[in-house]
This record gives sequence, structure tokens and C-alpha cells, in this order.
Amino acid sequence: MAKWILAKLDVKRLLETSHTFVIADLGCSVGPNTFFVVQNIVETVIEKCSGCGIDIEGLEFQAFLNDKITNDFNTLFRSLPSEKPYHVAAVPGSFHGRLFPKASLHLIHSSYSIQWLSQVPSQVLDDFCGLEQGQDLHRGCPQGRDRGIQATVHKGYGGIPGCESG
Ligand SMILES: C[S@@+](CC[C@H](N)C(=O)[O-])C[C@H]1O[C@@H](n2cnc3c(N)ncnc32)[C@H](O)[C@@H]1O
Repeated sequence: MAKWILAKLDVKRLLETSHTFVIADLGCSVGPNTFFVVQNIVETVIEKCSGCGIDIEGLEFQAFLNDKITNDFNTLFRSLPSEKPYHVAAVPGSFHGRLFPKASLHLIHSSYSIQWLSQVPSQVLDDFCGLEQGQDLHRGCPQGRDRGIQATVHKGYGGIPGCESG
């Protein structure tokens, strides 16, 4: 992530109209990995801004931590680091649906979540695999799993709320 931010992220453009850099972690679970990730993103964005000559005075960070409504958000909040250079809010709900307003996020992160499918995409519920809703994609149907991930990424990142440019 850090390497990608330093090499590719156009912080100048992203921060042209805002002094708050907004991050979302989809499928955050109860921590602590999500905190390491957000901390790493914040530090790297600051490093990148400094390298680009962007004034970081007044720059703030907002992290939206998302997971399904059944996630234990109390445990997540209890394990929040006491000192953190960002504001936190939870966003409950499935990332298969709309979670954020349009063009409201600067960086979306997700690890070990989009392949952890809480819903079998319709594309794999066919004769090819013979899977039914509720069956384990990872067992006995590697093609189905791969197609499921592709379908989720395709659908998700086209439709992840906040991702669209307009
Ligand atoms: C294996 S954990 C990964 C947690 C964390 N991202 C990490 O890397 O340690 C997968 C998480 O994804 C969440 N998840 C799975 N499908 C989801 C969905 N459709 N919407 C939101 N969260 C989802 C699960 O509830 C679970 O907390």
C-alpha cells in the first residue's frame, strides 16, 4: 500500500478541494489490522504530501471502518488506539450495496474481505458449478470461487459508493 501511494497516488489533485483525506476500510472486522492499515495510509500520505511540497498544516484524516451489521463493532471501538492521527466512524452494511455518497472517498482499502464472500454472486449460481446460496465457494469449486471474486471485484469497484468520479 505504502509503495503504491508513494508511486501512484495523486495527492495534489485529491487535496485540491479538500483538507480532509478520507479513507475507507471495507471488511475491517474487529481490528487490529484495520488500525495498522489506516495508520500506515495516513503516514504515507503525509510523506507523499511533504515530498510534493503540499502544505500539511491543517490536513486531517477521516477513516470509515466498514463491516457487515453482524460485526462486533463494540470490540472494534474498544480496541481503537488511544493516540491516532485520524477520526474514526463505523459504516455498517454490506459492501455489495451502496455505503457512501458519490465521490466522497479518497482511498479505499480492503484486505481478505472481497474473497470472503458473504453472498454468492449470481454469476456463479449456475450449472457450471451447481452452487446454491449458502454453499461454501472455497470447497470443491475453485472455478466458482475465482469467478465469484472476479464478479465481486467487477461489481464492487464499479459500484463501491464513493468511488465514482461524478
Ligand atoms: C478475514 S476478515 C478480514 C479482516 C481484515 N480486513 C484483515 O485483513 O484482517 C473478513 C471480514 O470481511 C467482512 N465481510 C465479508 N463480506 C462483507 C461484506 N459484503 N460487506 C462488509 N464486510 C464484509 C467479514 O465480516 C469479516 O469481518
